[in-house]
Amino acid sequence: MPDLASERVDHRFKALPPDAEGLTVGELAAQRRNLFTGGFTTPVLALSAESVAHNLRLLEEYAERHGLAFAPHGKTSMAPQLFDRQIAHGAWGITAAVPHQVRVYRAHGVARIFLANEVVDPVALRWIAAELDADPGFRLVCYVDSVRGAELMDQALTEAGARRALDVVVELGAGDGARTGARTEADCAAVADAVAATRTLRLVGVAGYEGEVPDGDPERVRAWLRRLTALAAGFDKAGRFGADVEEIVVSAGGSAWFDAVAEVFADLPGLSRPVLKLLRSGAYVSHDDGQYREKTPFNRIPEEGALQPAFRLWSQVVSRPTGAQAFTNAGKRDAAHDLHLPEAQVVRDARTGAIRPADGITVTGLSDQHAWVRTEEGAELEVGDWVGMGLSHPCTSFDKWQLIPLVEADGTVVDYIRTFF
Ligand SMILES: Cc1ncc(COP(=O)(O)O)c(C=O)c1O
Repeated sequence: MPDLASERVDHRFKALPPDAEGLTVGELAAQRRNLFTGGFTTPVLALSAESVAHNLRLLEEYAERHGLAFAPHGKTSMAPQLFDRQIAHGAWGITAAVPHQVRVYRAHGVARIFLANEVVDPVALRWIAAELDADPGFRLVCYVDSVRGAELMDQALTEAGARRALDVVVELGAGDGARTGARTEADCAAVADAVAATRTLRLVGVAGYEGEVPDGDPERVRAWLRRLTALAAGFDKAGRFGADVEEIVVSAGGSAWFDAVAEVFADLPGLSRPVLKLLRSGAYVSHDDGQYREKTPFNRIPEEGALQPAFRLWSQVVSRPTGAQAFTNAGKRDAAHDLHLPEAQVVRDARTGAIRPADGITVTGLSDQHAWVRTEEGAELEVGDWVGMGLSHPCTSFDKWQLIPLVEADGTVVDYIRTFF
């Protein structure tokens, strides 16, 4: 298994101190440098050690309290160090979106993977078959959402000589106009029939993603989740799960509706086998200062806790051409920008090192390598100052950085999180 701490620090990792060139990541972490004075270059993305620890604990406790198993979506961070911590915090396994991500997980020793997508690529299926056959301890559960998909999977697995059947769950689409997933219960039954006609696939449950319910609101999301649990119960009643299926898998749940998932899954009637109720939230791990700040279920259930935004992107003012304009050196290459622009939160004064609120300072646009900043009259900001920004959308924040300093509140960098996108 790759030892991430022994990887060399060099030009591949933006923002890391040039004078750390050649050290291993472990050696650099042991130096416990300060983010502001320890030789890092701007822009630099910092991940709060305390907030990540808090978020990991909070969702672990949430899942446990509500009787949910947890396979956090790993596409959010693609960071095996965080997967290890999620598993140490009780996760059943890690969710993936595509076979490439499964390869990353396997290379780092993840034993249970929920692949929330249909796979019809014969090359990927051949690799999956070999991986399953080589390791009896490896469990993979994968979506199937069409009769043709089941046929293609069967064909590829048969040609690959797969010895173990691949566990599949039928994906129920989240409604008309939603993303993937069979649209009707009858379509789902036809897919299940197609699975049953193979020897290479084994039906173990049902799944879907309530985050794609069109015009999702509490009522529509709950209604769709009830369709999903009814589908599981209907399949069970119809004897669609084979005698060798020890537990029935029912899975849904990103980071915007896990309260609804917990509620509806709690009402699932007893089935003929134990049920693995699998939640797949991923974005919770870093949370954010935009999309998920607005959408988190904890806004509706504050008595159950609150996630903490863990990212802060530090960029430096490189130009202040007018009293109303400033430009910093972080752009689209560095900041999530697909949902909202970054939010200027604090300024670190280049003269004194003091940190103050970014009053009157707003990010109005991003170029590839610049942030466009508008300053109101009287806003204090000069060339050289660092602007600390909050970001919206964890997935597109992680993916712009390959080695992310994990920073304590006082600025001490305690570790570096390696991502594999
Ligand atoms: C199928 C599926 N499951 C789970 C998730 C995780 O949701 P979130 O990113 O809100 O945590 C996603 C995210 O896109 C998804 O597509």
